[in-house]
Amino acid sequence: MSDEKPIATLPEGQPVGRVIAMPADTNPEGDIFGGWLLAQMDLAGATPAFERAGGRCATVALDGMVFHQPVSVGDEVSTYAKIIRVGRTSIRVHVEAWKRARGQAEALSVRVTEGVFTYVAIDQDRKPREVPLDTLQK
Ligand SMILES: CC(C)(COP(=O)(O)OP(=O)(O)OC[C@H]1O[C@@H](n2cnc3c(N)ncnc32)[C@H](O)[C@@H]1OP(=O)(O)O)[C@@H](O)C(=O)NCCC(=O)NCCS
Repeated sequence: MSDEKPIATLPEGQPVGRVIAMPADTNPEGDIFGGWLLAQMDLAGATPAFERAGGRCATVALDGMVFHQPVSVGDEVSTYAKIIRVGRTSIRVHVEAWKRARGQAEALSVRVTEGVFTYVAIDQDRKPREVPLDTLQK
């Protein structure tokens, strides 16, 4: 049996952001810069992490980052995020980005990236603090 993951056909997690890839987001060859996509994903993962942590978080690690497909200028890029683990002070969030070419049906969206971002809840002095239990009920 193959260890390869099947190609996802539906996004996993809550929808967090939607943005159009612009010419300013390209590298010198005219392709969308991977760092721009990473920034979109980090922002997306921080949304549920901030909610669960009840405030400020810092990104401490990124694992399993995969660029499945290139993104072109004009593509609509949507991000989805799902908390997969909550530790004492850290929160791990699986983040995916999907693209849709201009004018294409939503159903033709394809996954372009995925990765797991780890955020640490921090206090005013930037020191790790415990993730509160009560944000679970909210
Ligand atoms: C985030 C930061 C405050 C954590 O401080 P620290 O002294 O490393 O904290 P700790 O060793 O107590 O670890 C805190 C949590 O992070 C986790 N962690 C630390 N390094 C990790 C790593 N490389 N990968 C995954 N988790 C990690 C620990 O397991 C722990 O989780 P837990 O409490 O749920 O068990 C500090 O590393 C930092 O300020 N880093 C820079 C953050 C930053 O500038 N990010 C970019 C811009 S937001």
